[in-house]
Amino acid sequence: MEDKIRILLPEDDVDARVEEIGKQISADYAGKAVHLICILKGGVFFTCELAKRITVPVSLDFMCVSSYGAGTKSSGIVKIVKDLDEPLEGKHVLIVEDIIDSGRTLSYLTEVLKQRGPADIKICTLLDKPSRRVKKEVKVDYTCFSIPDEFVVGYGLDYDQKYRNLPYIGVVEV
Ligand code: IMP
Ligand code: MG
Repeated sequence: MEDKIRILLPEDDVDARVEEIGKQISADYAGKAVHLICILKGGVFFTCELAKRITVPVSLDFMCVSSYGAGTKSSGIVKIVKDLDEPLEGKHVLIVEDIIDSGRTLSYLTEVLKQRGPADIKICTLLDKPSRRVKKEVKVDYTCFSIPDEFVVGYGLDYDQKYRNLPYIGVVEV
């Protein structure tokens, strides 16, 4: 059965905004190298598109955390499924997320990664649902789009592992 998907952010809008954020990051990190931490699996499309638009030296690492079950509701539990390969000592770390919802994932992650001695840690997200925030202390440094409280898919985001490959951001109509 195919779900009906309404386009919320067309491909051109997403690409243009990623380009803008890439420029901003390049300017902010001028004279430094940035260590991107891609949060799998949702952050992978955004990380690739963003990395291509950053002009300072970039290194990449990947982490997989699970905070959700198979549905659209948070379990409230954050588990490290795959840890980083590289140490973080002295690095300018930029966590790249697909979406910040309750903020539980990033609240937990930044605490864990801070213990590993990076020079600094910032957060970059493709999407933010500010109305859903439970962890108010999470400070997001770069946000491509703030969106209303709707369940979205595409550009890396899934619904039951489907639709990650859509080149735009859409809402699954129920
Ligand atoms: P948080 O811990 O509640 O901030 O949840 C963040 C994670 O929940 C994201 O990395 C996504 O994997 C997932 N998530 C939250 N909202 C959505 C959505 O609208 N579509 C797809 N995944 C979502
Ligand atoms: Mg995710």
